[in-house]
Amino acid sequence: MALRTIITYPHPVLRQEAELVTVFDQELKNLVMDMAETMYHAPGVGLAANQIGIARQVVVVDRSPAEPAENTRTYITLVNPVISEGVGRVTGEEGCLSVIDCYTTVVRFRKIHVTAQDVEGNPLEFDAEDRYARIIQHEVDHLRGTLFIDRLSPLKRTLYKRKLKKILQEQQ
Ligand code: NI
Repeated sequence: MALRTIITYPHPVLRQEAELVTVFDQELKNLVMDMAETMYHAPGVGLAANQIGIARQVVVVDRSPAEPAENTRTYITLVNPVISEGVGRVTGEEGCLSVIDCYTTVVRFRKIHVTAQDVEGNPLEFDAEDRYARIIQHEVDHLRGTLFIDRLSPLKRTLYKRKLKKILQEQQ
């Protein structure tokens, strides 16, 4: 396993539509393991493959209990995920490993129906609610080239872009 570099906005790969996965081989499993390691190292609760520069439809989502011991963290892998239904609207705080220094509230479906494949290519179909549903929606957005800042009001987005410009200038 290896840590991968997390790519940050405004890098263009984050805007790419990720490609469907059709081959379920060892390379895919290695990618998923690297993604999980990179996600937990960050630390984060979800990661999409394009966040490490690979525009393929793969995400990992943390499924650990609220206060897990170090070695009890678990995650789920969703390959080619599709959100086929969404109900209810809830506002909640989000951040993104690819969007530095931005934590803000975003409106999402409260409950979703998800179809996907696992890392072996087996079909998955399930309902997700609340925090789990929010993370999945955020990660599936990544695969479509959408970032959570796209879902903010134009004013909030402009303010963030201004702030980011300053941060990037200071880093130079
Ligand atoms: Ni994100």
